[in-house]
Amino acid sequence: MKPTVVLYKKLSAPLLAELQQHAEVVFIDEPKRDGLQRLREALPGAHGLLGASLALDAELLDLAPQLRAVASVSVGVDNYDVDDLTRRRILLTNTPDVLTETTADTGFALLLASARRVVELAGLVKAGQWTRNIGPAHFGTDVHGKTLGIVGMGRIGEALAQRGHLGFGMPVLYHSHSPKPAVEQRFGARHCSLEQLLGEADFVCLTLPLTARTEGLIGAAQLALMKPGAILVNISRGKVVDEAALIDALQQRRIRGAGLDVFEREPLGHDSPLLELDNVVATPHIGSATEETREAMAACAVRNMIAALQGQRPANLVNPLAFA
Ligand code: DGY
Repeated sequence: MKPTVVLYKKLSAPLLAELQQHAEVVFIDEPKRDGLQRLREALPGAHGLLGASLALDAELLDLAPQLRAVASVSVGVDNYDVDDLTRRRILLTNTPDVLTETTADTGFALLLASARRVVELAGLVKAGQWTRNIGPAHFGTDVHGKTLGIVGMGRIGEALAQRGHLGFGMPVLYHSHSPKPAVEQRFGARHCSLEQLLGEADFVCLTLPLTARTEGLIGAAQLALMKPGAILVNISRGKVVDEAALIDALQQRRIRGAGLDVFEREPLGHDSPLLELDNVVATPHIGSATEETREAMAACAVRNMIAALQGQRPANLVNPLAFA
């Protein structure tokens, strides 16, 4: 008998067919809303779970005593208690690499849009308010040649450094737990403390994962270190930033602006003060959201799941101790 995989993210027809060769698939739509009860009912029979954007807490896992693997369609694994999964000997896989370039593109899009006020000024044109030549009140700030600060020098940080340095002639500063000599050599990047980076960078880009250590990393004290003309770009996770402190800094114009793809609460509430600020470019967590990349991520998750169900070590295993 084939194992059962509970799928809570829609797959393309070819990927679904590939998974169905190895598993009975139970599809749950909208597991965070209407589908939650159906998810709970399906969990007792589940050997695998495949999806994204659902916090799999202990209460849900307790309903799934046969569960052997969770294949997340994401690189970030902050929705899971990795230690708990390991204790339960449930393999957790993610989808790194395939989304690196696309997510870095999103970061750079936010950086450019914020610096050049693209969204704000395009809105003015659409509203029929372009009635005379644009003057100083609507000028943006240059990107080329400015200092790019990258917090978290993983794959996505490196792809941002490449864009900034090779494409826009930007000196690159970075802060990460260990120096990355290859990045320093290729992009002239300089390793420094967070404080130094915040004080020197014109663009501060957050690319690090959300962990107990990085939650609230950028609060009022850190924002106060940024240059008044600097822009914060967040493509990591909303909770890395103290959002209330950021809103305050933006309202008081203590920094120039922010380009944000991620928020403390997603979807962003209609009542968020961020929506009122013309110095904020906000996108709906689209870091990896292109047709090609989302398909590549789903393919990666399907293959990780098939390997796990076959007792093999999946290519992107987050918790190797669960496999040992
Ligand atoms: C990821 O892959 O982690 C993206 O941010 C989507 O959650």
